[in-house]
Amino acid sequence: MEMRERRRPQFRLLLLLLLCGGCPPAGGCNETRMLEKLPLCGKAFADMMRTLDAWKRCNLSEFIVYYESFTNCTEVETNVVGCYWPNPLAQGFISGVHRQFFANCTVDRTHWEDPPDEVLIPLIAVPVLLTVAMAGLVVWRSKRPDQLL
Ligand SMILES: *[C@@H]1O[C@H](CO)[C@@H](O)[C@H](O)[C@H]1NC(C)=O
Ligand SMILES: *[C@@H]1O[C@H](CO)[C@@H](O)[C@H](O)[C@H]1NC(C)=O
Ligand SMILES: *[C@@H]1O[C@H](CO)[C@@H](O)[C@H](O)[C@H]1NC(C)=O
Ligand SMILES: *[C@@H]1O[C@H](CO)[C@@H](O)[C@H](O)[C@H]1NC(C)=O
Repeated sequence: MEMRERRRPQFRLLLLLLLCGGCPPAGGCNETRMLEKLPLCGKAFADMMRTLDAWKRCNLSEFIVYYESFTNCTEVETNVVGCYWPNPLAQGFISGVHRQFFANCTVDRTHWEDPPDEVLIPLIAVPVLLTVAMAGLVVWRSKRPDQLL
């Protein structure tokens, strides 16, 4: 883990999926502790968002740095308690925070016009890749040799 390079989030996720598409659940993963720690990331994110002027809070270019820091925080804390990142619980937490802060933004579409691809793609790609990964896991599990037709 110390050797992990700094990569853009979508590449790290892609690598993770390619390298261990069907990683077994981590034996040492304590989900209770993970759910205790993740709110620290949420609070740090809330504090950072408060430093932005209200009218900037829906501007992707303004908050993307905080958003990436928040995502990184969830990854670090998830790994600290021995869990893989991403995982459905952590993803659920991230989605909740996302909804809490950006629910109002989707209504005001003008601020979402033409965001640059390099910030939009990770936001879209991450949930899509997660869905693909989960679907793949289900297929992988259902394809065990003893269950082949
Ligand atoms: C998981 O973490 C919780 C809260 O820190 C702790 O009470 C519990 O004993 C831990 N469980 C295991 C299996 O380590
Ligand atoms: C994530 O956060 C950790 C701890 O704060 C830091 O050392 C690391 O450089 C960060 N990684 C990225 C990709 O920002
Ligand atoms: C979203 O809008 C509601 C109703 O106007 C408001 O109460 C809430 O504080 C807003 N949330 C954010 C994060 O700005
Ligand atoms: C969003 O923020 C960027 C960087 O500060 C700025 O250039 C852009 O005009 C803003 N967009 C909107 C819709 O406010």
